[in-house]
Amino acid sequence: MCGIIGFTGTQDALPVLLDGLTKLEYRGYDSAGVAVQVCDGIRMIKSSGQIRCLRKKIAESGMLPGCSGIGHTRWATHGAPTDTNAHPHMSNNGKFAVVHNGIIENYIELREELTAKGYVFSSETDTEVIVHLLDMYYSGDCKKAVMKAAARLQGSYALGVICADFPGSVFAVKQESPLIIGVGAGENYFASDVTALADHTKNLIYLEDGEFAELTPVKAAVFDCTGAEIAKPITRIVWDVGASQKSGYDHFMLKEIYEQPRALKAAIEPRVKNNRITFDGFDMTNEEARKISKIIVTACGSAYYAGCVGRYAIEELCGVPVEMDYASELRYRSPIVDENTLLIVISQSGETADSIAAVKELKRRGVRVLAIVNVVASTIANLADNVIYTWAGPEIAVATTKGYTTQVAALTMFALWFSEKLGRISESRYDALVKELLLLPGLAQRAIDLNPHIQDLALRYHNNSSIFFIGRNIDCAVCLEGSLKLKEISYIHSEAYAAGELKHGTIALIEPGRLVVALCCHTALFDKMMSNIREVKARGAEVLGVALEGDRRILMEADDVIYVPKADPLLGAIPRIIPLQLFAYYVAKCNGCDIDKPKNLAKSVTVE
Ligand code: M6R
Repeated sequence: MCGIIGFTGTQDALPVLLDGLTKLEYRGYDSAGVAVQVCDGIRMIKSSGQIRCLRKKIAESGMLPGCSGIGHTRWATHGAPTDTNAHPHMSNNGKFAVVHNGIIENYIELREELTAKGYVFSSETDTEVIVHLLDMYYSGDCKKAVMKAAARLQGSYALGVICADFPGSVFAVKQESPLIIGVGAGENYFASDVTALADHTKNLIYLEDGEFAELTPVKAAVFDCTGAEIAKPITRIVWDVGASQKSGYDHFMLKEIYEQPRALKAAIEPRVKNNRITFDGFDMTNEEARKISKIIVTACGSAYYAGCVGRYAIEELCGVPVEMDYASELRYRSPIVDENTLLIVISQSGETADSIAAVKELKRRGVRVLAIVNVVASTIANLADNVIYTWAGPEIAVATTKGYTTQVAALTMFALWFSEKLGRISESRYDALVKELLLLPGLAQRAIDLNPHIQDLALRYHNNSSIFFIGRNIDCAVCLEGSLKLKEISYIHSEAYAAGELKHGTIALIEPGRLVVALCCHTALFDKMMSNIREVKARGAEVLGVALEGDRRILMEADDVIYVPKADPLLGAIPRIIPLQLFAYYVAKCNGCDIDKPKNLAKSVTVE
């Protein structure tokens, strides 16, 4: 999704802006632009395509000398990814330039109003109304114009604004889109996320919705929506310096796959104290726990699929019914909830618009919200009543890997913790599961060690035009994620099915040479899986079986086998998904795909 950056200081703004935009590339974009306050006004350059196209255009047209400016990477929503639709957008008189992340829902009315007043629109974007509103409300006080323009906007927005009459000042406004302020020495910044700022400053101010800031080189002043200045705490962040570098790996995705043992360790070990699961800053009395009669799990994409895995652990260990809901759907149905419902929302970024909306809707209905989130102090973390951080560390590749496995680990820990509160788990089962949880980082490493074999398999199967994943129970949930991983980075059509469901329609698509990846790790359901494998083989499919180490029965039916490390059935998803992540990665690599930035996708989906 769009990324924004702003800078004001005493050094040239352009390198800072371009570096920030490069760091924000991972969010997904299709055009980019910058505007800098130069000695006689504002100069703007923008370009469709990648940041290297923008750099080329800047080099061709001469540098933009100036110490303050704004920049943007655009992920097209309103209008094609053209030079004209790229941000920044400028007012007709060249006085204001604006960058925007989000969606202005009432832009059609505003556009009509502004057109009637004589403003000329040059783009198809919703954003352009903002810059003309600023001009309309401007009478020498930029802060007032920003406030008045923001008050007219409906929707979600993080804005960056510069005005030719206020050299050295950059304004930032936040409403339901991510935005942080970076406080430096003699320079200040804003950006969509910390990745863009971490090389410059570790001191951050988190804006709340409705707040805005005026940054000058010496001050970062924050105001509420009435314009009253408010004191905001400065948070010092701990940032893994290697996070924004590939550290020798070909892609961030591969690096992040390899980081999973470490990420799982960080997610699990600090939560196990004296052999008991505890969560810092989150507790519930046994009585409160017993009142919870239903859990709704909501999320999008892979986070939703992590929820599908966690559901098995919660239902089995806690005996509480779990409803799974896509966040984009939950808000538009009428879920039956009351004060005894717990909503668990899962999100790596904590900024996914659909998940945020679902949380708000259920909070409005009085539901307690527990968030499982990776990014600290993100919108979802702030909205929720309680948070379990996954501590996966920064995830840059669009395709989530360590984000997903740490979500699964966090959910399983929650299930175990909750089952104890409910008094539903025996001491021996609890101890055994805690022990197994602590073994997960090692199992993840052993799954990663399958890499050479997975590379061979990718070489063999990368030409398939359609790949099916089948499994039962937790394996079925793992299939959903394995299939998503493959399609999002390799662009190969793929579907994931409950193995028993295939014969109810989809088996019609199985034809000679079609690859079916069959997960057969659920011991009790192994024979059923064998029958499903025979069904697809009878129709000419090739089968790549995934089975537990040492299980030779699979060799009777599968053409190839991936043997995964054994784990407790409730924890098996983690060692099973890792080879599928690697498979997706190497298939995409064989096919020459842009793995870290797959087409049409964004890392954090901040629009509905
Ligand atoms: O940041 P979130 O976890 O809320 O993101 C949810 C999905 O957009 C995300 O998992 C998406 O499906 C990934 N590209 C999958 O790799």
